[in-house]
Amino acid sequence: MAAPLRLGVNIDHVATIRNARGGGHPDPVRAAKLAAAAGADSITAHLREDRRHISDLDIERLSSEIALPLNLEMAATAEMVAIALRHLPHACCLVPEKREERTTEGGLDAAGQQEALRPFVAKLSAAGIRVALFIEPDRKQLAAAKALRTPVVELHTGAYAEAKGAARDAELDRLVQAAAAASALGLECHAGHGLTFDNVGPVAAIAEVVELNIGHFLIGEAVFNGLDSAIRRMRAVMDAARAPRAAPRPA
Ligand code: PXP
Repeated sequence: MAAPLRLGVNIDHVATIRNARGGGHPDPVRAAKLAAAAGADSITAHLREDRRHISDLDIERLSSEIALPLNLEMAATAEMVAIALRHLPHACCLVPEKREERTTEGGLDAAGQQEALRPFVAKLSAAGIRVALFIEPDRKQLAAAKALRTPVVELHTGAYAEAKGAARDAELDRLVQAAAAASALGLECHAGHGLTFDNVGPVAAIAEVVELNIGHFLIGEAVFNGLDSAIRRMRAVMDAARAPRAAPRPA
């Protein structure tokens, strides 16, 4: 039977709306508390180098005010590692970051940057932080994660989420193969980016995937139906996709 599937709620875009006007409303920490009450298993926040959404103070408050595990997404830089070591989140997910991108476009090239990543992974791991690499569903990247001794990989589902028809089937197949390969290497497998009520099912059904991190769609959906309702519905869709299929009835 597949392991239980956790939901990490990414609250970055609550901060995006707040920052559009300055001030403190809407408060990402309030959103995190609401997410916890609605059934989230962890809170994810991306502290970007340009601080376009989540701020240093948000990370400080999330660390002290939220009971759920905090998953800090960040670039592999000395500044970010120092912040992580100060707050000691449950997990750090290392992501690629380009200032001009709108969101995290594509996974980290762990294979190409293995030696540059090594000291950052080592420092975070030595502090007891569970390190993940946000990578494309690709064997080369998985091998690099294994070589770097990160316990977790998060597979980038953006290409799957954007593709249509046969191309989507092909992207799903890449995710299925990569999740199996990750598990064979002993790596815990997460997935995320661009997931919605309509496309989350096939990813949630991949038995080796044990955590999904979902943000933008949930915050957007909250505008119409509230954050509590959006998270509860996402949880239900994930759980339904995860449920073991009923055995076919004998003819
Ligand atoms: N996982 C990682 C590593 C990400 O960088 C992001 C986007 O910040 C997500 C998950 C969530 O993606 P989305 O906001 O599209 O749901």
